[in-house]
Amino acid sequence: MNMKKTNKFVRACSFSELKEKGRLKFAADNGGEAALFFTGGKVYAVDNVCPHNHTPKIHLGFIEGNNVLCPVHLYKFNLKTGKNINCQTCDLPVYEVRIEGDDVFIEEPKSNSFNFDF
Ligand code: FES
Repeated sequence: MNMKKTNKFVRACSFSELKEKGRLKFAADNGGEAALFFTGGKVYAVDNVCPHNHTPKIHLGFIEGNNVLCPVHLYKFNLKTGKNINCQTCDLPVYEVRIEGDDVFIEEPKSNSFNFDF
């Protein structure tokens, strides 16, 4: 049996709009949300819900190099790996990005963004 992971990609936004604004929030049909950033010449997509307090505000975060700081309590996450610089036990999911022409596709965000099961 082929167990290869087949991630579903969805169109999140236009590349030109993301370059102009630097950040965008994307709401997927499954209820999940992603925050997209254009910084340092690269596009990053991460979950919009902060794993610290489950607050959907990452798209409003502060960019610091390759990191984003959640605007709520300033936890810092690496945009490429999702690793939390402050507390290694709560990382931010990152999504693979594909750019085709002016379309930005990302892996479909998790649908359980507000799942409080620990
Ligand atoms: S909710 Fe993001 S750091 Fe607390």
